[in-house]
Amino acid sequence: MKILYATSEAQPFAATGGLADVAGSLPKALTDEGCECSVIMPFYKNTIKEADAKTFKFVTEFYVPVGWRSQYCGVFEKDVNGVTYYFLDNEYYFSRDFGIYGYYDDAERFAFFSRAVLETIKHTGEVPDIINSNDWQCALIPIYYNIYYRYQNDMRRIRNFFTIHNIGYQGLYGFDLLEDILSIPRHMAMLVEYDGDINLMKGALEVADKITTVSPTYAEEIFDPWFACGLDRALANKKFKTCGFLNGIDVNLFNPATDNGLAEKFSVKRKSGKATCKAALLEKVNLPADDDSPVIGIVTRLVEHKGLDLIREVFDDIVNMGYKVVILGSGEHFYENFFHEAQNRFPGKVSFVCGYVPDLARMIYAGADMFLMPSKSEPCGLAQMISLRYGTIPVVRATGGLKDSIIDCGDAAGTGFTFQTYNAHDMLDSIRRAYDAYGDKKAWGALTTRAMKADFSWKQSAKLYIGLYEELYGWE
Ligand code: GLC
Repeated sequence: MKILYATSEAQPFAATGGLADVAGSLPKALTDEGCECSVIMPFYKNTIKEADAKTFKFVTEFYVPVGWRSQYCGVFEKDVNGVTYYFLDNEYYFSRDFGIYGYYDDAERFAFFSRAVLETIKHTGEVPDIINSNDWQCALIPIYYNIYYRYQNDMRRIRNFFTIHNIGYQGLYGFDLLEDILSIPRHMAMLVEYDGDINLMKGALEVADKITTVSPTYAEEIFDPWFACGLDRALANKKFKTCGFLNGIDVNLFNPATDNGLAEKFSVKRKSGKATCKAALLEKVNLPADDDSPVIGIVTRLVEHKGLDLIREVFDDIVNMGYKVVILGSGEHFYENFFHEAQNRFPGKVSFVCGYVPDLARMIYAGADMFLMPSKSEPCGLAQMISLRYGTIPVVRATGGLKDSIIDCGDAAGTGFTFQTYNAHDMLDSIRRAYDAYGDKKAWGALTTRAMKADFSWKQSAKLYIGLYEELYGWE
């Protein structure tokens, strides 16, 4: 079976969040399980390293309709561990100065990309059985398929999966974009109309053959207005085609036994290296290694739904309990200012690094004792799985993928500390339970062993995806 995985980001070529990790690892797992999976993404000139770009092979070129215009598209390919990655080239859209999103013409950039994905299929003749599109940036793929391609003979049998990695980002635009930019005929406007705006994700939900999301719990939560960011009404009659599979992580990439980025490697059998990693982390973030106090790490985008208001509310209590706190992240200035200020108030106890620094993130996963993720909502979350792999115990709110991946220690067989309600003192209680548990070195050792042995490889989920792909593929 042939799968085309369409994404706006994928490791190691462009990344702003978890989607990139998934797009960089799930396709390989699907291939290992016997599918032929290719990835298709924009050829970003600013994030793809020149050395990489030089190894791309030119495949073909053509023009893509964008409203009333015709825009150039070059197709390049590269084999990455047995998976073909296609890169769609147009310098006007994808040769930009910084980052990959946040431009005034994002709607047009991803309309171009989405249409170009379908044109690539037409021009290369490589017709997939399934297109799996991800998030709002690719939401126009199933929409265009339905408007323009489903009646074309050679593309008739393609089935469309749409995966929601975060329902909070929907692609909202004004109606003035409908025809000239988004190439949606006026009589089809109802596909994307929602609450008086254009909502691209809503359109994808309407037309996709299957909607998947990244954990079983999140697949239920999105029907609840508290989580749905307004889309619950669009989803209400789509339960029959919605499901959730828990993401995995690349267990070779995140492996403390082979990770060259660590101050000392370690494993379940030889855990002593973790202490070296802790010392290296403290040194790196300018905190003293003067006592045995536990280090709690936070690596996150600094946005509201990551639960930062809970942390803000009881931050002093956490530090006063005896923790050292290391925070890495950037985002809303309000939170950045809070952590800068907290660092000044608690010298030697709190360290905040503002930014997205993958090497430091890795040092925190490996060197911290606990990892805090009190998310208001969390479709899946990957950091808690990576932490487990490095024997760093997650303290999480039981929501979405956090609920599906972390078992509370209360029953003595767990892998972390969880709390249910979105409440700062419930979170604090879990943080206190973790603190107390840390004091019992023998039990803590058993806990970190369980954590490191937990299996979050892609194997299981890849099989679930394939099962569903096959179910759809059988349809006439
Ligand atoms: C988004 C979600 C995160 C998930 C990731 C990959 O970034 O917010 O929870 O793990 O996508 O699916």
